[in-house]
Amino acid sequence: MTTESKFDPKDMEFRHLGPSGLKVSLFSLGGWLTYGGTQKGNVVKECMQAAWDHGINFFDTAEVYANGQSEIEMGRALQVELGWPRDEYVLSTKIFFGTGRKEPNTRGLSKKHVVEGLKSSLARLQQPYVDIVLAHRPDAATPMREIVEAFTQCIRNLNLAYYWGTSEWSAMQIMEATQIAEKYNLIAPIAEQPQYNAFHRQRFEIEYAPLYKQYQYGTTIWSPLASGLLTGKYNNGIPEDSRFATNQSFFADTIKELKSEAGQAKIEKVKKLTAIAERLGANASQLALAWCAKNENVSTVILGATKVEQIIDNCKALKLLPKLTPEVMEEIEQILQNKPTPPPAFGRVRRPIARKLKL
Ligand SMILES: NC(=O)c1ccc[n+]([C@@H]2O[C@H](COP(=O)([O-])OP(=O)(O)OC[C@H]3O[C@@H](n4cnc5c(N)ncnc54)[C@H](OP(=O)(O)O)[C@@H]3O)[C@@H](O)[C@H]2O)c1
Repeated sequence: MTTESKFDPKDMEFRHLGPSGLKVSLFSLGGWLTYGGTQKGNVVKECMQAAWDHGINFFDTAEVYANGQSEIEMGRALQVELGWPRDEYVLSTKIFFGTGRKEPNTRGLSKKHVVEGLKSSLARLQQPYVDIVLAHRPDAATPMREIVEAFTQCIRNLNLAYYWGTSEWSAMQIMEATQIAEKYNLIAPIAEQPQYNAFHRQRFEIEYAPLYKQYQYGTTIWSPLASGLLTGKYNNGIPEDSRFATNQSFFADTIKELKSEAGQAKIEKVKKLTAIAERLGANASQLALAWCAKNENVSTVILGATKVEQIIDNCKALKLLPKLTPEVMEEIEQILQNKPTPPPAFGRVRRPIARKLKL
């Protein structure tokens, strides 16, 4: 039993994950396309260590990332190489896409795949449980009650996770799952993992707004740098060792878009954002990350990184947060020109209804 702390939060901010008591660092680290994909071996441990050294306590992966290799790499780092006390870090994985197998029951959100998929994930991670398991997509082919029962079973009966959440579900699907949980004494999801960055805002800012108000629903946001576009690294073409070069077929549409008028307009915006960042003593990546973190409905911003230096660079975004005054945020808004408009309220406004979720 560990009594000594290995984790130093440094100047990291921690936010509650949704309505739960679980606290996650404002920046976290994920393994999509990187760990087990382009990056294997020592670099995985080194990146996770660099994150930890900057006060990051939350790590994210999924059964589908590199067809299970991400869980294997991150699990080995956690269990064999890093040796952090289990109660000092928070780990999530995601179930839905399977690991590339084609059998009828090795993907989706049937009770069978949620339970068996999570058990297989845990074996790859070398962990008895994850803190949070996410439904990586909605499953139109499985009844919602079965999905909520499946995650409840993982938590309540099998001790394979403490909480569950959703990823890229519609607000309506999240509400349906929550209402089923309330009606049948099952466990409701606590957080969504949506894409959110300066170029991708509508769903996070508008569609999910009622979820924040009614359920205090949490968010673990992904692609905060739009896969690197917001760093400015693609301003003058595609660097050789960058994500768009190392995952060309996956990003074929994005690469095509870069050359179009719409893509060039985005690059012009990145250049203007870079000027603001530099005036504030930062760089484009840090500004893009701090802009996400500034939103109080973001519980944690999941970083992606192929190199230790990127983590060190990106964590400096924390220092930029207090400099994002309302005036600077407005200046950014003027550059982005993409603020989503809420539906009209016809002059009718009321305070949010506080609801207690069953956890
Ligand atoms: N739930 C979902 O459906 C879903 C989907 C996607 C991701 N996610 C989660 O969210 C995490 C983060 O997403 P993401 O990786 O797309 O985030 P991102 O921050 O948009 O992109 C990260 C990539 O940008 C490049 N980069 C990062 N920092 C940089 C810097 N300072 N300078 C230059 N380049 C830099 C690196 O790629 P290169 O070095 O290769 O260029 C890095 O891997 C994932 O790991 C995963 O855990 C979830």
